[in-house]
Amino acid sequence: MRHYLDVDDLTSEEFRAVISLADKSASDLGRPYDGLGVACVFEKPSARTRNSTEMAVVQLGGHPVYIIDAEVGIDSRESAEDVARTLGCYHASLCARVFDHSMLERMAATDALPVVNLLSDFSHPLQALADVLTIRAELGVDSLEGKVITYVGDANNVTRSLAQAVGHLGGTMRVVAPSGYQFSEIDIEQLRGGGLTLELFDRPADGLPGSDVVYTDTWISMGDEGEREERLRAFEGFMVDQAMLSTAGSGAIFLHCLPAHRGEEVSAEVLDGPQSRIWSQAANRLDAVRAVLAWLTIVNSAS
Ligand code: CP
Ligand code: NVA
Repeated sequence: MRHYLDVDDLTSEEFRAVISLADKSASDLGRPYDGLGVACVFEKPSARTRNSTEMAVVQLGGHPVYIIDAEVGIDSRESAEDVARTLGCYHASLCARVFDHSMLERMAATDALPVVNLLSDFSHPLQALADVLTIRAELGVDSLEGKVITYVGDANNVTRSLAQAVGHLGGTMRVVAPSGYQFSEIDIEQLRGGGLTLELFDRPADGLPGSDVVYTDTWISMGDEGEREERLRAFEGFMVDQAMLSTAGSGAIFLHCLPAHRGEEVSAEVLDGPQSRIWSQAANRLDAVRAVLAWLTIVNSAS
């Protein structure tokens, strides 16, 4: 059984097949979930992910059921495996947002139903799919060959998935992060081993020139709240403001997965300015999750 826990669960060819599905309209995808349920389990809050996932299920003919963790009690009321097996009795897919990525792996290992990662501490693969859909549309390209995508800030779950997606499409990924917040050696080895051109910087002035896309995310991810003060200190000088963005050139676009914190990782001027494409990016979340859910029905019915 195939799942979507990480972008790299797919080959580059499969990732491009999902992009082709995302390029289709909802009506062209038909109703593969007709009469079926999709369980949407959330251990953390969400605006974009919950709403895009629920609406994608509706567009594919299915019925989403929103479940907060307090209700099912993953690993407290019963094991993650038994939650997956239970939901597999009623649903065609399980979509989950969790703190610990290994919980998704354990649920997927039951093969009770296909599991989709709605964000974990490790990765955010639906966001990355929406990100590359946005980059392709906004830059007017199909592949990312010759394009430079520069992420400024905390090398986190969003960054890791974005790097994998950029790698599948042949682009160059730069990460500009202060010491202690850059990708780990293991990440670097895995990403480069997968064929990604990955360039690392610790000064925005070095990383931004020549970028086609400048991307940032919060410095304080869900689960990191206890480190707020030390993180604000560590990221001093890393806010993407107009002066920083201008070093990338006037043709560069700005992306942010949202939610954004104006005056922390990005200035209001950039977030709400002419180079920002954040609302196309947010809208593309719907196309992304609809494509992944449709693709899972195709690959899992073929196997
Ligand atoms: N970008 C994103 O995943 O947003 P939410 O946390 O609101 O779902
Ligand atoms: N890195 C952020 C992304 C939020 C969509 C987090 O994990 O909280």
